[in-house]
Amino acid sequence: MSSPDHSSYVIDEMISAKSIAARIEDLAREIQDEFKGTNKLVVVGLLRGSFVFIADLVRELDLPVEVDFLEASSYGDGMQSSREVRIFKDLRGQIEGRDVLVVEDIIDTGHTLAHVTDYLLTKKPTRLKSIALLDKPTRREVDYKADWLGFEIPDEFVVGYGIDYAQRNRNLPFIGKVRFINA
Ligand code: IMP
Ligand code: MG
Repeated sequence: MSSPDHSSYVIDEMISAKSIAARIEDLAREIQDEFKGTNKLVVVGLLRGSFVFIADLVRELDLPVEVDFLEASSYGDGMQSSREVRIFKDLRGQIEGRDVLVVEDIIDTGHTLAHVTDYLLTKKPTRLKSIALLDKPTRREVDYKADWLGFEIPDEFVVGYGIDYAQRNRNLPFIGKVRFINA
């Protein structure tokens, strides 16, 4: 699918807003336990897909938190994963000697998070953990495991809750799967 035609798909709900909220409450509790006593946790969101997730997640964390963002290349405007990952926008703050939590929307091939965590490790954080809202384990090309995962999903293209298809549908409150209609 290289040229998206926006007139020809519908979105079927896969994970409701309520289920997402409940899962985030549980995850936040586990993250809080892990980082209990930290003097500062830098929560790093990967732009742009994680912006809704990170907003909900940090509001469940009763910890001294700072928020920063990093943008890495991903799908461009289509559905094909680019295996070559580039950093488009770096962090604003320092993470040396800090506790860091990387927040991603989806792990697909694994290339993005594998590359980003290697890159962040060169900045010498004390602790670097990662969380992804969604995981498509059957699509993995490089071995990568997040420390926390929201939901495992099948190999379907999804949108909503911050996640886009060619920049659309990020504003849906739920996760839905894209279904093409043969006109
Ligand atoms: P990876 O490098 O293949 O693991 O790709 C991860 C990135 O691909 C995610 O951050 C998403 O931006 C994008 N991606 C993967 N699957 C989907 C999807 O189903 N819908 C929208 N974007 C996706
Ligand atoms: Mg992404």
